[in-house]
Amino acid sequence: MMFLVLLALCLAVLPVAVFGYDNGVAATPPMGWSTWCTNDLCGLRDKCTEWEVRNRADALVSEGLAELGYQWLLLDDCWADHDRDADGNLQPAPRQFPSGMKALADYIHGKGLKLGVYTCIGTQTCKKNRPGSYGHYDQDAKTFASWGVDMVKADNCHHPSSGETTQELFTQFSKSLNATGHPMLFAMCEWGNDEVWNWGPGISQMYRIQMDHIPFFHWPATANGAGYGCGTAEIIEWMADLHPSKYVAPNQWMDPDFLETMFPITMNFTHSRTEFTFWALWSAPLFVATDVMGMSEEKKSILTNVEVLAVHKDPLFIAGERVKKGAHGQQVWSRPLSNGDIAVVLYNANNITALPIVVQWEELGWKNAAMVSVRDLWLQQDVAKARVGYQAIVEPNDVQMLRLSKL
Ligand code: GLA
Repeated sequence: MMFLVLLALCLAVLPVAVFGYDNGVAATPPMGWSTWCTNDLCGLRDKCTEWEVRNRADALVSEGLAELGYQWLLLDDCWADHDRDADGNLQPAPRQFPSGMKALADYIHGKGLKLGVYTCIGTQTCKKNRPGSYGHYDQDAKTFASWGVDMVKADNCHHPSSGETTQELFTQFSKSLNATGHPMLFAMCEWGNDEVWNWGPGISQMYRIQMDHIPFFHWPATANGAGYGCGTAEIIEWMADLHPSKYVAPNQWMDPDFLETMFPITMNFTHSRTEFTFWALWSAPLFVATDVMGMSEEKKSILTNVEVLAVHKDPLFIAGERVKKGAHGQQVWSRPLSNGDIAVVLYNANNITALPIVVQWEELGWKNAAMVSVRDLWLQQDVAKARVGYQAIVEPNDVQMLRLSKL
């Protein structure tokens, strides 16, 4: 009896258990390239023909990105024809994909890479009035499986008036994908509504936690968070509020949306490096939405930093959390790592002024650390040995990403 009472008490205080959706394809956070917003504003000139996509697949391999884990090519909106075929099947726009999707999937698989496609949970896609999957969930899932597609992103536009909740629609589609028997990564582009972090993990392997990452570091919106487009800085604040360490785990990745690395004019090196630092700290999906062909050395240095990527892939997969926030924009974030080290980010959210940012070992839970070695992961250099803490001057919007090891 006593045992049952104790059990009931334990269950009452435990948070609701969330179980990831494990079909073998997303044990680690997916990384790759997406056609959306490539070198342009929201799809006006996306790289979205079979030749462009094949070239990007080649580039992932030749630029050394594939071997670092960038293995997914996601065709976002605008790959499909405006009409279904005579049998009601989705079909690619014939002028963009004359060889068909199976041929593209074969090419991509031949490179050791994986193909993702976009659809929408509603009646039409978000752009250009392509058909959505509503009313065709089973049929479209079978079509994607027959092409050998490895990932499906489902967007959230044009809900039907039939009254199902968003959660019901995404759940139905997830079941349809599962029923094909062909394992696919299901990416829910649900924009963070309805507290998706509480139910998304059971039916998908990644789910968006806000609307689009607008390719700006600061996006002057009136509101941020679920359902709103955000700049990088606003996404960082939103993630701090969400406490990602409670939700992120293998097969259940919180998705702050694409990387807008070095997006022309609006995302400079500092912005892009800060963006990448946080996405890595959270073990977020890393889909680069700018071009991976002809990358500058600066851009490549961000995407290929193996020490930062080691934090991203650290097998504990405990997403980083904010430890403290100062009055002027000084922030300290941290994440425990599997070998006992701690990853720390010193982030200056102040737009104008460089600031000293201090972290003390005690704040990270290391009460009696004798001596700690501090490694700067962007410099890839050991920068200090210290008993109590570390301080650095950090430029506006910039970061220092550190790895601390007890000596
Ligand atoms: C929405 C999604 C984006 C992108 C576009 C395509 O805005 O949130 O990620 O897929 O639609 O139209």
